[in-house]
Amino acid sequence: MTRRILIAGNWKMNTRRAGAVELAKGIVAGVGDEPSVDVALCPPSVYLTVVADAVAGTPIGLGAQNLYAADDGAFTGEVNASMLTDVGCRYVILGHSERRAIMGETDQQISEKLHAALAGNLIPIVCVGETLEDRESGSTEKVVETQLRGSLDGLDDARAAGVVIAYEPVWAIGTGKTASPAQAEEVHAFIRKLLGELFGDDVAGQMRIQYGGSVKPGNAKELLGQPNIDGALVGGASLKVEDFMGIINPA
Ligand code: G3P
Repeated sequence: MTRRILIAGNWKMNTRRAGAVELAKGIVAGVGDEPSVDVALCPPSVYLTVVADAVAGTPIGLGAQNLYAADDGAFTGEVNASMLTDVGCRYVILGHSERRAIMGETDQQISEKLHAALAGNLIPIVCVGETLEDRESGSTEKVVETQLRGSLDGLDDARAAGVVIAYEPVWAIGTGKTASPAQAEEVHAFIRKLLGELFGDDVAGQMRIQYGGSVKPGNAKELLGQPNIDGALVGGASLKVEDFMGIINPA
């Protein structure tokens, strides 16, 4: 089963308009017309439109970092899937650990967002991952399984193949501590097995599972060389053209 690698830059709450455009244009120039991997940029929502303009007509996909699972209406401060596709988004990151921890997002809310994303023709990137405490107490698989089962609740086999999972161990995010390729592969293989139980092995074999957590040019190749790692969700290293290209190129 060949799965096309997906390298996505999660810019989080960083950049300003001019810098966002410059960064996007630098990546457009670096990626060229026919990259051998899928590339996505996920800027802050206020800069989606300017980045959309910068990547228009290129193979680079635009992604949002969140959505609100409702149709238009009285939801101050929120944006929905229809607005995201309207400005050119192809992807949306859901359930990032920062949103789970800081904004208190639950698996149930993430599953509602997942269904809203799919109904709006967006490719969801659903994030899961354990804390250091979970890992040290031997609960990694239990935590990841609970998050996956909850976040993917109600997802049917036909739509599951198009969903991307991002395994991001919380202890590796922004800390410079990357999971070793073997540590990451172990959890990715576990996730693939669980996806097989949920959707059948054929669908599970088509689903992309990204790794995220201190991915850099120096460790990307080995991580992406693991059989069940199908891409990277990159934070800090996606904010500099040279670093991001250093992850895309070896991929
Ligand atoms: O979503 C990407 C992420 O949380 C990893 O961030 O800065 O460790 O690459 P970073």
